Amino acid sequence: MRKHIVAGNWKMNNDLAETETLITALKSKTKTTDAEVMIAPAFTNLWQAYQTLKDNDVIEVIAQNMHAATNGAYTGEISADMLKSIGVNTVILGHSERREYFKETDASLAKKVDAALAKDMRVIFCFGEELADRKSGNEENIVGSQIKNALFHLDASAFKNIVLAYEPVWAIGTGETASPEQAQDMHAFIRKTLADQYGYEIANEVSILYGGSVKPANAKEIFGKPDVDGGLIGGASLKAEDFFAIVNAF
Ligand code: PGA
Repeated sequence: MRKHIVAGNWKMNNDLAETETLITALKSKTKTTDAEVMIAPAFTNLWQAYQTLKDNDVIEVIAQNMHAATNGAYTGEISADMLKSIGVNTVILGHSERREYFKETDASLAKKVDAALAKDMRVIFCFGEELADRKSGNEENIVGSQIKNALFHLDASAFKNIVLAYEPVWAIGTGETASPEQAQDMHAFIRKTLADQYGYEIANEVSILYGGSVKPANAKEIFGKPDVDGGLIGGASLKAEDFFAIVNAF
C-alpha cells in the first residue's frame, strides 16, 4: 500500500522565532493520522525545528533543496551529509521555483537525485507543466520528459525512496487549482509512464502528490482521487490550522 503524504513547503518564509511559533502551533494540533506529515522550513531553522519536534512522532522535518556534490568549494550550498547530520532524511528536489529562478534542469536534477539516494535520503521530486504547455495540449509530453530525463536512469529499487509531486506551474501560489479531474488524469498518466518503464508493481507503490493552491476547501476532493496520494502545500502550510485541516482531509 502506498503512503499518503502531506508535506508543507515553507519556502523562504519564517525566521527562527516564527518557525518556533508555527511548530508549537502544529504540535498542539497534531493527531495520529494515516498520512505522513512533513514540514520544510528554511535551512537556517532546520536544526531548531528538528529539536523542537524530537518528541513528536507525526511530523518529519525535511529540506527544500540540497547540492549534488558531497562537499567542496560551492559557496552557499548545503550537502546531503550536512542535512543527515542534523536528522534530516528527506529532501524536496526540482521545485518549479528552483527550475525557474535558479536554472535547475532535468540533467542537474538527475545528479541531485543520485546524490540524495546515495546517502539513503528520500526524495520528493517535483515537476509540472507551464500554462502555455497546458493551453497547447502539451502537458503530458512535458511531464513525461521531466520524469524520464531526471529519473529513468535509476534502478527500480530506487523508487522505494522516491515520492513524486505533480505541480502544474500555473497553479502554484496563484489561487488557481487543477480540478480534481485534471489532477487525477495527470496522476494516472504519471503512474502509467512509470509502469511502462518499471512495471505496475513498482508504479503502484510510488506516492504521487499534487501541489498547487491546495487549501482546506479543496483538499478532500483532490485527495479523494484514486491516483492522488497526498499534497505538497505552499501557502496553506504557513497556518497551522489550515495545514492540519488539509492533513485531516484524508
Ligand atoms: P502553493 O505552493 O500551495 O502556495 O500553491 C505549492 C508549492 O509550491 O509546493
